[in-house]
Amino acid sequence: MKVGILTGGGDCPGLNAVIRAVVRKAYLENIKVVGIRYGWKGLIEDDVEPLNIESVSGILPKGGTILGTSRTNPYKEKKDAKGRIIRSVKDNIKSIKSTWKKHRLDALIAVGGEDTLGVASRLYKEEKLPIVGVPKTIDNDLSSTDYTFGFDTAINIVTECIDRLHTTAESHNRIMVVEVMGRHAGWIACLGGLAGGADVILVPEIPIDVEWVCNIIKKRHKRGKTFSIVVVAEGAKLKELPKEITIEEKSDEFGHIRLGGIGKILADLIEKKTGFETRVTVLGHIQRGGSPSAFDRILGTRFGIKAVELVMRGKFGYMASLRGNKIVEVPLEKATSKLKTLDMKLYEIAKVFFG
Ligand code: F6P
Repeated sequence: MKVGILTGGGDCPGLNAVIRAVVRKAYLENIKVVGIRYGWKGLIEDDVEPLNIESVSGILPKGGTILGTSRTNPYKEKKDAKGRIIRSVKDNIKSIKSTWKKHRLDALIAVGGEDTLGVASRLYKEEKLPIVGVPKTIDNDLSSTDYTFGFDTAINIVTECIDRLHTTAESHNRIMVVEVMGRHAGWIACLGGLAGGADVILVPEIPIDVEWVCNIIKKRHKRGKTFSIVVVAEGAKLKELPKEITIEEKSDEFGHIRLGGIGKILADLIEKKTGFETRVTVLGHIQRGGSPSAFDRILGTRFGIKAVELVMRGKFGYMASLRGNKIVEVPLEKATSKLKTLDMKLYEIAKVFFG
């Protein structure tokens, strides 16, 4: 038996733990593994390398992915500068099938978020390709799993950064606005902010009422506090301008526009309305880089082993998932049908500490 593995979408800590677990478990089961480089791009362009227990030795603590990743979407045609189609979706599917055949793959393990696993689900359903999925993303916004790996590391980084920002905010009597990742869901902002003791947390699920934010800060300062920490998700929108703030209008192959800038807009408004000196810190890709937490190493490892088991049982079209403390399997189609937004019960808990 021969299995391919690819990692797609934004990288995150724990990807190498999955790759290592897949290769080690497959080795015990006499299954050959090949790595497909740069996500779906590698399958389209036949960029494939053999993986063995030597190639995955020492990668557990490493961030990123030894296979590389990309946001290549096979279901999006490629156009040249003049808008002429140079690669159609049909071409992509044909190439995927020919790479598959050339390497005599019996199955594929796709590790990714909503985009990568959405493609996996379509290839399974429409092309009958035997694929299983593993859920990853620092955003934790994938349905049908309690957690995706990468999220725990990200919120640990956010927590440490907020701790650091506290001391400088306090020394200067300043408001610190911290912009964190989270395109459509406020998981990182809410749980990172909760763990860091943020005074206000703003998430994409609830439009920002600047007056409300400023009143919380003013009330806090009235009771003697001289500084405040405001955490805002990059995808949060202002109530009076219900549109995400973007760095550039160009979108990736899955139609996502690069977000960023809400922190600065908010900081300016807070300073103007409260009169308190305000600074902004954008955490950006710091949240995605570096070594995975112990939780993410273990979760990635458990997902990787489950993926090999799914392949062995012929459970294609399924994804490994964490439910409570158990690793279970869920249909890929269900997991990718809608995003998992923030659990509002957690936001209510965070709100107890506002102001
Ligand atoms: O992978 C999810 C994510 O980290 C989002 O939180 C963020 O909006 C996006 O990726 C950034 O993507 P890129 O690394 O392509 O700029």
